[in-house]
Amino acid sequence: MKVRLEVKKGADKGKVFEFTGHDIFLFGRSELAKCHLANDNFVSRFHFLMEINPPKVWLKDLGSKNGTFVNGVKYGGRIVPDPHDLGMKKLPPSDAGNNHNSILFETEIFNDDEICVGDNSIYVTVRNNRKPYERSLKSESDSYGLDIESLLNIVSTGKPDVISAIPDYEIVRKIGEGGMGTVYLARGLVSSGNVAIKIIKPEQELNQKIVKRFREREMVIVKSLEHKNITHCFDVDFRNGLYYIVMEYINGNDIQQIITRKGPFGVQEACRIIVETLEGLSYLHTHNIIHRDIKPSNIIISKDNKVKITDFGLAKDITNTNSLTKSSEYAGTYPFMPPEQLYNFKHCNFSTDVFSVGATLYYMCTKKYPHDYPKGKDVMLVNIQDPVIPVENRGVKIKQEIADVINKAVSLKMNERYQTAKEMQQALIEAVSII
Ligand SMILES: Nc1ncnc2c1ncn2[C@@H]1O[C@H](COP(=O)(O)OP(=O)(O)OP(=O)(O)O)[C@@H](O)[C@H]1O
Ligand SMILES: [Mg+2]
Repeated sequence: MKVRLEVKKGADKGKVFEFTGHDIFLFGRSELAKCHLANDNFVSRFHFLMEINPPKVWLKDLGSKNGTFVNGVKYGGRIVPDPHDLGMKKLPPSDAGNNHNSILFETEIFNDDEICVGDNSIYVTVRNNRKPYERSLKSESDSYGLDIESLLNIVSTGKPDVISAIPDYEIVRKIGEGGMGTVYLARGLVSSGNVAIKIIKPEQELNQKIVKRFREREMVIVKSLEHKNITHCFDVDFRNGLYYIVMEYINGNDIQQIITRKGPFGVQEACRIIVETLEGLSYLHTHNIIHRDIKPSNIIISKDNKVKITDFGLAKDITNTNSLTKSSEYAGTYPFMPPEQLYNFKHCNFSTDVFSVGATLYYMCTKKYPHDYPKGKDVMLVNIQDPVIPVENRGVKIKQEIADVINKAVSLKMNERYQTAKEMQQALIEAVSII
């Protein structure tokens, strides 16, 4: 898939941006924006975001001052429409531009569309040079005749009779549900013992070529990973219309569940858990794997007090769910996501995980995120624009040495963070033992 954007009129006339395959990019006046429109003062610093998620292209206005126009239709913008023109009640000033009920922010983009920001007119060419939808579960012929509704029902209710369609396993019960799948406790019929099976929700658009490639290449590596702080992954498979990941079952609770039930951790205990987490993460880093989704719900504390990282990039690699434009579904992930996952999506490095683990430790100690999210302000915009609030200012007693480690880990600039999990771990151990 190829997407070409050409500025045909306006201050940045002549600029061309070309993309192939999945990508996310920001347009704006800021130098950090991948598509830098420097010359037009009517363009906001971070004006809009585009995501190529083959075969679709999405645009989301980031609460820009003047809005983004697609074929003459306005998306976003903070200028309140004249109520007399629209025959509607004037919005209270605090909601201006942020009222998602009355202002559209997102739209799909098609070939030949025209995007206008400030004085700039950008023409869009979209070429699908591969067959569009390579596969989706919706059309999977291997689904035993079950339609999408039935599959959805199975995955969310976990009816064991039908789910036992997963060969070699008997489903015992549902453990929990996340954005892209449902996790079950299951028992092996051939090799006895408990496993956790994550079944990807059938409405996710799976790209079968990616799944195949993933099974052939990445799975070989993933299966070989063995570490006390990593949830071992046994297999990924696709049977009877369901795509699933079989992994080690961890009998315990994830950090999000613990905080929701009991409130924040004591600082010492939080640091102990994160030192262990960093041990697992460091193992991934030495195997050249960036987790990309460290957050409280992906760290489980077992009943015997072991710390286990789950979900290392697996589901994200094989589904299209690293889609960022669908913000509401992934709201829980944003506070742990560093800015480069938005504006420099392809160039995440180990320090990306360092941010997420730092944000997790911040949250464990304070039950607050590194950023505040003012009601109505776009969460992505907050992540890339607003300064992080120092953890010692969150009303929790925390030694400055530890606060310094957390603040450094959640630096917005990649090069100001610890560069690897090992580096952060050493700093944290040192800070804790100073106490
Ligand atoms: N291997 C496992 N053993 C035991 N419980 C698990 C395992 N993997 C996940 N869980 C639990 O299952 C629940 C759902 O996990 P899931 O990964 O689907 O959602 P999530 O992490 O909350 O969100 P997301 O979809 O964004 O990752 C969570 O409570 C998680 O702790
Ligand atoms: Mg998870």
